[in-house]
Amino acid sequence: MIYPIVKYGDSVLEKPSATVTVFDDELKKLIEDMFESMYAAHGVGLAAPQIGIAKRIAVIDCSFKEDPAAKMVIINPEIIKKEGRQTHSEGCLSLPDFRENVTRAMKCKIRAQDVNGKWFEADGEELLARAMQHETDHLNGKLFISHVSALKRDLIRRKIKKLQKTGQW
Ligand code: NI
Repeated sequence: MIYPIVKYGDSVLEKPSATVTVFDDELKKLIEDMFESMYAAHGVGLAAPQIGIAKRIAVIDCSFKEDPAAKMVIINPEIIKKEGRQTHSEGCLSLPDFRENVTRAMKCKIRAQDVNGKWFEADGEELLARAMQHETDHLNGKLFISHVSALKRDLIRRKIKKLQKTGQW
């Protein structure tokens, strides 16, 4: 099932999501649906609050279907180590058509649970590190625009308000 993507303005995107405690078939189905929804929206990462589900689950595929081994599910994730810096243009499915330069760690280590509840650690660098940090932020109720200057953020907010008024958001 393909879920519609929740856009900026919905409070679900700005609240910390709840810890996942049940690892059952329902969760596996939700994760399948999250990958499907992410691909349909042409994204390389998707967090559950972006489909209106306030649970600490995110999916990532920086290869966008090219490499099955690149598919990553992170449940209750935590960034446990950060190293270096990278600045790149970043976007988010919940803020379509807005991109800004965001500085993040170049490398990071994540600790998370898999679909069966098993804890694992994974290292990421460059785009994968960026995705890990971006998606973990989502689960803490934080959007990429919180990493840009207040001036730029206000400009984006104002543009979105205009779009909302004319029903284009
Ligand atoms: Ni996002």
